Amino acid sequence: MEVVILDDARDLASVAADAITALLARKPDAVLGLATGSSPLAVYDELTARHERGEVSFAQARAFTLDEYVGLPAGHPERYRTVIDRDFVTRVDFAPDAVQGPDGLADDIPASCAAYEQAIADAGGVDLQILGIGSVGHIAFNEPGSSFASRTRIKTLTQQTRLDNARFFDGDVSQVPTHCLTQGLGTIMAARHVVLLATGASKAEAVHQLVEGPVSALWPATILQHHPHATVLLDPAAAGRLQLAGYYRETFAGKPTWQGI
Ligand code: F6R
Repeated sequence: MEVVILDDARDLASVAADAITALLARKPDAVLGLATGSSPLAVYDELTARHERGEVSFAQARAFTLDEYVGLPAGHPERYRTVIDRDFVTRVDFAPDAVQGPDGLADDIPASCAAYEQAIADAGGVDLQILGIGSVGHIAFNEPGSSFASRTRIKTLTQQTRLDNARFFDGDVSQVPTHCLTQGLGTIMAARHVVLLATGASKAEAVHQLVEGPVSALWPATILQHHPHATVLLDPAAAGRLQLAGYYRETFAGKPTWQGI
């Protein structure tokens, strides 16, 4: 696991955007994994700016989103499919139908989840997965207690996650759905490169567990310690509880710039 702590959030976004730009340069039909939420927004803004300058194209790429609320109607502004379209997909040049997400309105949820896993496999798997992390230590919506072997399935959201996400629902936790469909930890671990972004002090304990804690289902993101190519991009507040923060900074500062993440 590579831990990168940078003082300027724009630099964090640039590091992630550099990795995606380089991937698409060498593999234009790469498969991306997209997260919703606040954490990747600066990355999507940076990629959109690069696309507008003609520096990167998604025309041949495909993408899969991590998760979806169960039961939000198609036109709902906080449905994750709507959110990712608004925040990123429609701002660049993805082909129609190139981006898929779990179907939170499916009648047969197990069959729909299995079909989603198959679609990812049929696309050749995810080359680069963007992740955020919840304050409870979830990645995607794999809440504490999730199986490390899990695949796309329905999950019950914790009260803490619903409180954290109430800001997207007029601050009203009762409007936040109770269930979601989410890629499993096993699904995410199969991505060839995972790039997790975290900013702000509210993520500091989850980040400490992710990077330095014991691998435990109580902090699901800790499974990423077993990933062969995981990059964790942090601002100083999110890195605030890391015991080895100085070492991570020194290591990244000494890395040749051509090497990337
Ligand atoms: C979103 C997702 C979640 C978020 C996490 C952090 O698709 O899978 O795991 O990444 O809840 O959310 P933000 O970035 O809004 O703090």
